[in-house]
Amino acid sequence: MRVLGIETSCDETGVAVYDSQAGLLAHTLYSQVAVHADYGGVVPELASRDHVRKLLPLIRQTLADANCTGEQIDGIAYTAGPGLVGALMVGGAVGRSLAYAWNIPAIGVHHMEGHLLAPMLETEPPDFPFVALLVSGGHTQLVAVAGIGRYEILGESLDDAAGEAFDKAAKMLDLDYPGGPEIARLAERGDPDRFRFPRPMTDRPGLDFSFSGLKTFTLNTVAEHRGDAVLPDEQTVADIACAFQEAVVDTLVIKCRRALDQTGMKTLVIAGGVSANRRLRNKLEAALARQGARVYYARNEFCTDNGAMIAYAGCQRLLAGQHDDLAIRAIPRWPMDTLPPLGNPDAPKQ
Ligand code: KG4
Ligand code: ZN
Repeated sequence: MRVLGIETSCDETGVAVYDSQAGLLAHTLYSQVAVHADYGGVVPELASRDHVRKLLPLIRQTLADANCTGEQIDGIAYTAGPGLVGALMVGGAVGRSLAYAWNIPAIGVHHMEGHLLAPMLETEPPDFPFVALLVSGGHTQLVAVAGIGRYEILGESLDDAAGEAFDKAAKMLDLDYPGGPEIARLAERGDPDRFRFPRPMTDRPGLDFSFSGLKTFTLNTVAEHRGDAVLPDEQTVADIACAFQEAVVDTLVIKCRRALDQTGMKTLVIAGGVSANRRLRNKLEAALARQGARVYYARNEFCTDNGAMIAYAGCQRLLAGQHDDLAIRAIPRWPMDTLPPLGNPDAPKQ
């Protein structure tokens, strides 16, 4: 089965063609970062308009890159939620209409399920069951994954998502949006011993997260060290970035180990934009090796938003016979544990 995947939930337009036999045939991405840069965050209306401008040319290009025509596509997968409603509507309207015109099935994919399954696109994919840490700009969740659509939320953030915390801390340090990669870059020059930021909610049991206190701690540290200037000196900014990253990473590592202990599982999958963070990957690899467990993640371009993960997730569901009716689906808030299961999780992958 050959599936065209469309991702437009936020500020990236992503398109891909995934073939269940041959694997990923092509994928393209247009990032709107420059459109939103002046505003320090995503402006929903500008995001929708840019998806309108870029989606069709990107679909044409991706089909050409995959060396295939519309007639050779067997199904369409588009992100139906969660995300910005106007942005979702663009991908949904185009995806559903193309499927109608080509007389093939369409399916609305859950964006976080797409992230969660992205490591399956790698040459050494993880086997079910596993614990997944989903860390993106909008979500921070620990999920027990028995198979596709068989999700139990073990814990989640009570306030800001991890990526959102990175973005807000970056803004306090006058860094560009998105802030995660900027903080990570600066942190390499920072002194890890100068400041110690709290590791929120790690001293009590449970698998929930809270990052809003860390945000306040960052703000206060900036205020204490800037004197009469707008910002602290360059080295202090790097030291703060480093302390912030260490605090977020340690908190995530502690909770991941706890989730593995609690479920008795030995496989951890990390997915979503923050899973591109090298410090997080390295610290998890070291910590998990000590308890005989292993961590899996996608290549960097498939950690952040992309069309390949949507094509892959949609393909699995279409192969299992699931598809939608003629409605265009856009679901801004959509709990992942309400998704239908995919049948036998032990069946071999196609
Ligand atoms: O998954 P994603 O592309 O979009 C959402 O679904 O939200 O995640 C974007 C988030 C942003 O908050 C961004 O700052 C963060 O992922 N991010 C990172 C890194 N790369 C992206 N955070 C920390 N370190 C990184 N290297
Ligand atoms: Zn995402």
